[in-house]
Amino acid sequence: MSDAATRDDLVSLLKDWTAAAARLTQGEQIGADGAVDGPPLAPPEDTGEALGLPASGLTLTFGFGPALFETSDGTDRFGIASRRPDALQPLPRFAGDALEPAYTGGDLCVQACADDPQVAVHAIRNLSRIAFGRADLRWSQLGFGRTSSTSTSQVTARNLFGFKDGTANLKAEDASLVDEHVWVQRADGPDWLVDGSYLVARKIRMIIEVWDRQALQEQERVIGRSKGEGAPLSGGTEFTALDFTKKDANGAPLIDPRAHVRLAHPDRNHGVRLLRRGYNFVDGNDELGRLNAGLFFLSFQRSPEDFVAVQRSLASDAMAEYIKHVGSAVFAIPPGARRGSFVGAGLFA
Ligand code: HEM
Repeated sequence: MSDAATRDDLVSLLKDWTAAAARLTQGEQIGADGAVDGPPLAPPEDTGEALGLPASGLTLTFGFGPALFETSDGTDRFGIASRRPDALQPLPRFAGDALEPAYTGGDLCVQACADDPQVAVHAIRNLSRIAFGRADLRWSQLGFGRTSSTSTSQVTARNLFGFKDGTANLKAEDASLVDEHVWVQRADGPDWLVDGSYLVARKIRMIIEVWDRQALQEQERVIGRSKGEGAPLSGGTEFTALDFTKKDANGAPLIDPRAHVRLAHPDRNHGVRLLRRGYNFVDGNDELGRLNAGLFFLSFQRSPEDFVAVQRSLASDAMAEYIKHVGSAVFAIPPGARRGSFVGAGLFA
């Protein structure tokens, strides 16, 4: 939010965003006059780059960061500090963090997902424009080719390390697991967040050039799965359960003690499961000609503590040599807006 924004500004912004989202997700333009039917001497209501494009499956998700409730110096800018979920705290510092302020934090978040990036960008651009004077765009990330499959009907996608990603992810079809691990339950509180969730975003740069020089065997050791099929190194096919006890003829574990899948596995993390829903990104290249690429890791979970547990366990991840966490944010995601209401309305009730 802008420095001078008031509680009324916040509420009016959420109402305006909800109305705009209802139109955008139907493939409609912003405002009755849209991009080209307004007065010729006024700026058009809609920016126009999605004219003629279908809704493309656009979904919009809104979230509230810890600083919306209370700034680091304890200021309650919008009179909502008492309604802050106990679990919504800034993430702790993790081993190896190289966070850049330019990709970190935020009072509000808007996630636009669509089959066509032009439609997603149009949504973000117009929602930012609607926020003018009330909120400023702090940072944004364009991603492509979702990295983690989230449904059994999808072929498992690949990340930019070339490995299948999402094999052991929570899947939409596992409704009871999704209830247990993703949606905030009444007992968790607060009331306004019930049936919502928490989003953790981590911009993870991949040191692509170093990774690409590693032997296939080393790449597979780091992940703990085969590169082609995505099968556990302990044997079987893609969806065979990982067996961490299996050893080779020399007595060495087939899945390395520091393999990513071993350290991230629920058995290692008190049964914690995350709904991973990230995207690949390439932001051009740096001055040395290295691709500025990686994984825009996004996970939804019932509490940010679940992410913290897994990320702490990954402190000794063999993958750490090939990645760098450069951005980070956490948000409470209110449940979807009811007809006639607006997103996050319960927070102000
Ligand atoms: C660039 C960074 C990362 C890459 C390239 C990566 C890649 C992978 C791959 C290839 C798998 C195996 C396939 C699968 O089951 O989905 C996997 C599994 C997993 N990853 Fe990551 N990952 C990254 C970061 C993270 C982070 C930051 C977390 C959470 C803190 C995480 C949590 C998990 C979990 C929970 C699993 C499933 C483990 C299991 O139950 O078998 N990953 N990841």
